Amino acid sequence: GQTLSAKAGIPWPAAIAHRGASYDAPEETAPAYLLARDLGADYLELDLQRTRDGVLVAFHDDTLKRTTNVAQVFPDRAGQPISAFTLTELKQLDAGSWFNAAYPARARPAFVGLKILTLDEVIDIAEGGANKPGLYLETKVPKQFSGIEKDLKAQLGRRGWLAPRTAPAGFDAAKAVGVAYTPGRVILQTFEKDSLALLQQQMPATPKILLLWLGDGYIATKDTGAKAPAGGPGLAAFYARQEVESRAAFADWVRFAKQHGAIGTGPSAALTNGGDQSYADLVHPWMNDLTHGEGLVIHAYTVDDAVDFKALAARGVDGFFTNRIAALLSFQGRA
Ligand code: G3P
Ligand code: CA
Repeated sequence: GQTLSAKAGIPWPAAIAHRGASYDAPEETAPAYLLARDLGADYLELDLQRTRDGVLVAFHDDTLKRTTNVAQVFPDRAGQPISAFTLTELKQLDAGSWFNAAYPARARPAFVGLKILTLDEVIDIAEGGANKPGLYLETKVPKQFSGIEKDLKAQLGRRGWLAPRTAPAGFDAAKAVGVAYTPGRVILQTFEKDSLALLQQQMPATPKILLLWLGDGYIATKDTGAKAPAGGPGLAAFYARQEVESRAAFADWVRFAKQHGAIGTGPSAALTNGGDQSYADLVHPWMNDLTHGEGLVIHAYTVDDAVDFKALAARGVDGFFTNRIAALLSFQGRA
């Protein structure tokens, strides 16, 4: 995949800071993105949603409950989606204190009162340091946000992130560093096939990744009616057994991605991750061979342990979404 990645202007293997440096700081907040940028991540990853008054913000969950104090500030509205709140309302929330409570060993007083960020504010961070990371943008639950692909194009265009830039003196494309100056400085990602098609329509020249997950129905369970275990080693064994049956379905999935403008796939990876083996293994060697054979790159999510970096690198994965960007960069000998 190195050649394929280079062709798309994407660093190889790509180090993608999943929700920022979200192991060390509250996900999708300023400290998480600043740290990821300054450590040297190739990309800042974020999930895009849209406020009631039409502002694109970086936020992962369907509701505000897990990562903000919405229950205190708006007790009657805690279960409402992000689209029910104006930006002014969202800015009243504390998006950092939950982290201190959940992870006392990594807690910091400075995390108290952190704000939800707009896309504009994340772009400011990406542009604001000595390192110039790219942006890896996901349209989250796009069905809730009709037209978000168009909004995104308009905003990236306004900020100058869709135009190719001239490389600065000393930029070495062969080393694939300095992604901010290559066509791959923005990567668009989605789980939703409809959104992929809309992203392609709006931004045909911008690299796109179709995220893959078990529930999609394009894999063995659909063809055979067999029921997959929920996760873990049993699931990996299940796919090993199902290889012959699932090959055609997986190939259809990959070809769909390619036909709709994706330069690669973002499969979930079965992981050790300290015992959390809840992800489906969509990075079997035969799946990777098939994907590379179609000329597509593979960025696996969400990978946090060195043992997993190693195993997946050996399987030819072209990039990692990770919460632990410091650990990944150190594994890659870049930090
Ligand atoms: O975008 C890749 C990975 O982030 C997908 O999972 O749920 O963390 O957005 P999620
Ligand atoms: Ca995401």
